[in-house]
Amino acid sequence: MIGLKNNKKQLAKLTLLMNGHKRKRQRGVVLTDQGFKKLQAAVSKAEIEQNNCIAYTVEVLSDRIGIDPHTLTKVFRCEARVDKRTLHCCFKAFNLQLESHDYFQPRPQLQSAVRNPLTLLQPENKSKIQNHIDWGKAPDTSVFYGRTAELATLKRWICLDSCRLVGLLGMGGIGKTSLAAKLIEQIQGQFEFVIWRSLSHAPTLLKLLKELIQFFSKQTNTNLPETIEGQISQLIDYLRASRCLLVLDNFEKILRSNETPNQSYNCLARTYHQGYEDYGQLLKRLGEERHRSCLLFTSREKPKEITQIQGKSSPVRVLKLNGLPVPQAQNICYNNCFASKSQTELSQLIEYFGGNPLFLKIVCGTIQNLFNGHIDEFLKQKTLIFGDICTFLDREFKCLSDREQKIMICLAKQREPISFSQLLSQLRPSISAKDLLESLEFLEARSLIEPKAARFSLQPILRDYLTLPRRTSSGILASMGVLRY
Ligand SMILES: Nc1ncnc2c1ncn2[C@@H]1O[C@H](COP(=O)(O)OP(=O)(O)OP(=O)(O)O)[C@@H](O)[C@H]1O
Ligand SMILES: [Mg+2]
Repeated sequence: MIGLKNNKKQLAKLTLLMNGHKRKRQRGVVLTDQGFKKLQAAVSKAEIEQNNCIAYTVEVLSDRIGIDPHTLTKVFRCEARVDKRTLHCCFKAFNLQLESHDYFQPRPQLQSAVRNPLTLLQPENKSKIQNHIDWGKAPDTSVFYGRTAELATLKRWICLDSCRLVGLLGMGGIGKTSLAAKLIEQIQGQFEFVIWRSLSHAPTLLKLLKELIQFFSKQTNTNLPETIEGQISQLIDYLRASRCLLVLDNFEKILRSNETPNQSYNCLARTYHQGYEDYGQLLKRLGEERHRSCLLFTSREKPKEITQIQGKSSPVRVLKLNGLPVPQAQNICYNNCFASKSQTELSQLIEYFGGNPLFLKIVCGTIQNLFNGHIDEFLKQKTLIFGDICTFLDREFKCLSDREQKIMICLAKQREPISFSQLLSQLRPSISAKDLLESLEFLEARSLIEPKAARFSLQPILRDYLTLPRRTSSGILASMGVLRY
């Protein structure tokens, strides 16, 4: 019996030797996704609160936790086993309790699945967070006012809650691009890779993915998969291997506007221009699949995929940007060269333009050039919508469907904010309750209506644009038979 046992042992040893390796004892644990997020959120919080929003280097973390940098790198990469005591130390250093669901012991055959193949491309003992930044066409934000609350919300979502997909929505000129650029300036230290791309020239997804993959692979990837799905999967691999921040500005450029007047489409969110539908797949996969990076996009409209996956506690969130409040907006006016004598007139001007920084910059330029900085003179002549502002509104209005235009015009005629049922009674029978609900939701998302206490109205500038007899630059309202001049 003993002889047989010994024989079996010998045989097992021989098999191992023939396979050319000796099996190591597999001990140690790896952070689960939940454990990793918990630790990462605590580190990010400490970086924001105690380190001026700058990422800790591995050396600093190593001192704080009391473990060597090499082991620490293993903990954060979740790719190799570490001693359970090591995890205890990491969690304790950030006042966290290590719980059983925060780690697991991979079975030997799972070890390779835990390891991300892409980390092999990186130097093994990388001991510092190295920033790779491609600012693309991000604007300079040295002149930037306010938005403290919005910046704090976005920082919390991206750095603490580890959101994977964040949309910054709002009317044209409201400050989405500027806010995104300011945010990146402040949190760039938390990411190994930061890239900014504008979709204003509507690049195909194929072109964009190629650029992104080249960037995240530090120009080393020469083997792009053929299909879009394959390329998105490869991109996600990079987003798992490193913490990356990807910004896509002007996302609305690839969304479909109302080109064919009688077309009926989902009013809650827009679909894509022909040839750009793949972008929907990109958003959906980056929002739903597990990775540790973030895609931030700015858009005047909400892509339809977002409506399906966004949520307050989901890793996909949307921030709608409104105009700047008077105290911050007046800095824009001062910066555009006029010192108002009257605070009331300045507030009136800002409120009329809904605190929209672009409108204010345009109008302040005119007040300075033609009225020598006198707001009262400008306000007296009563033509407040002109030039670029008019062209801008024409374009916005043209993007709406027939139904949305009708609703806007109906609202423009009201003296006071009106309720849903009052509005519906004025629009029936051509618009049903369902259609009205959907359209109002869309118009609200685009900042074109202002619901307050279940009543609806338009901003003063939009009301005037739709009702005052005047000449629009393209005559669009006249061409629709809405206004006669
Ligand atoms: N908080 C701010 N402080 C100072 N200037 C601002 C601020 N926000 C925006 N601006 C200025 O207002 C103008 C419009 O801003 P921005 O381009 O960011 O708007 P947007 O919402 O991205 O518009 P679009 O939809 O057309 O892309 C820019 O000239 C910008 O510098
Ligand atoms: Mg923009």
